[in-house]
Amino acid sequence: MACEIGTDIQRAATIIRQGGLVGMPTETVYGLAANALDSQAVARIFAAKQRPAFDPLIVHVPDISWMPRIATEFPDLARRLADRFWPGPLTILLPKTAAVPDLVTSGLPDVGVRIPRHPLPLELLRLADCPLAAPSANLFGRISPTTAQHVADQLADRVDYILDGGPCGVGVESTVLRLSPRPCLLRPGGVSLEDLTLIAGPIEIAASTDHPGEVAQSAPGMLPQHYAPRTPLTLDPPASQVRRGRWGILCFQRLPTGQEFSAQEILSPRGDLTEAAANFFAALRRLDAMGLDGIIAESFPETGLGRALNDRLRRAATK
Ligand code: TXA
Ligand code: MG
Repeated sequence: MACEIGTDIQRAATIIRQGGLVGMPTETVYGLAANALDSQAVARIFAAKQRPAFDPLIVHVPDISWMPRIATEFPDLARRLADRFWPGPLTILLPKTAAVPDLVTSGLPDVGVRIPRHPLPLELLRLADCPLAAPSANLFGRISPTTAQHVADQLADRVDYILDGGPCGVGVESTVLRLSPRPCLLRPGGVSLEDLTLIAGPIEIAASTDHPGEVAQSAPGMLPQHYAPRTPLTLDPPASQVRRGRWGILCFQRLPTGQEFSAQEILSPRGDLTEAAANFFAALRRLDAMGLDGIIAESFPETGLGRALNDRLRRAATK
């Protein structure tokens, strides 16, 4: 069944108030939004995404004045980070209030919170007058959506309406940061580690885990297999590797010399990581839709947004 895509925010807000699901743009990726304080609506998100219940959801609010509804504390460091990076692609873990259903946080005491930097979700939040739980609007483990059509491609029959805000400007998900007991990066994302460090000082980096059981203790986005295309993806293969069939390449700035490919995506010919991030998931989807035998991807420089892009590539790669 086709789901309507449009810009009717009133309608989207009514659906949210009635416990339904709305695909909504943000500056990072499209989210699958529901009233974060309504556990039945939240349960629908998990069902629609086929997402395991151990993987907690991010809660979106339009401004800091809403914080007491969802968090019992807003420490000084959170305030300084919020001043600098909100609205924007940073999710901060804070102790949750009793109003936030355990399902949202997968039973964890902390809730991930962010203020998105996009006018449509901000308006939707104010009209619906409730915090919005919203994971990326893709099936669990698959490529994140950066256009309304991407949401419809995977979730059309499971979402009540899709708000169209055009292509996402940032293109990778928010950075997820735990503050306590010490600042710890759970997922690299749209705010770079370098920029965070300027405000928070030294930041630990959480290790990825191969054991889903441990995941609830850290961050499910840390699952080794995630953000994956259906086509096998190989990261940084040796130039000597023998390949049969049709292969595509996803590269940052320019094609490797002396190799032939059936399809190619060059993310930023001028070598700009911000531009590459904005193009990343859509390019991966285009390659995935071509029925290739394999996709080759090249690592980005491990700096700024390159860290988040490399993280997504490592998880997308076939093990
Ligand atoms: O940019 C984004 O963050 C997008 C847009 C829609 O806001 N959302 C997003 O949500 O990427 P999702 O569910 O695909 O990824 C959220 C990740 C989880 O997989 C987990 O790693 C982490 O955020 N997370 C959320 N709440 C957490 C919590 N209470 N404790 C630990 N990690 C949490
Ligand atoms: Mg996701």
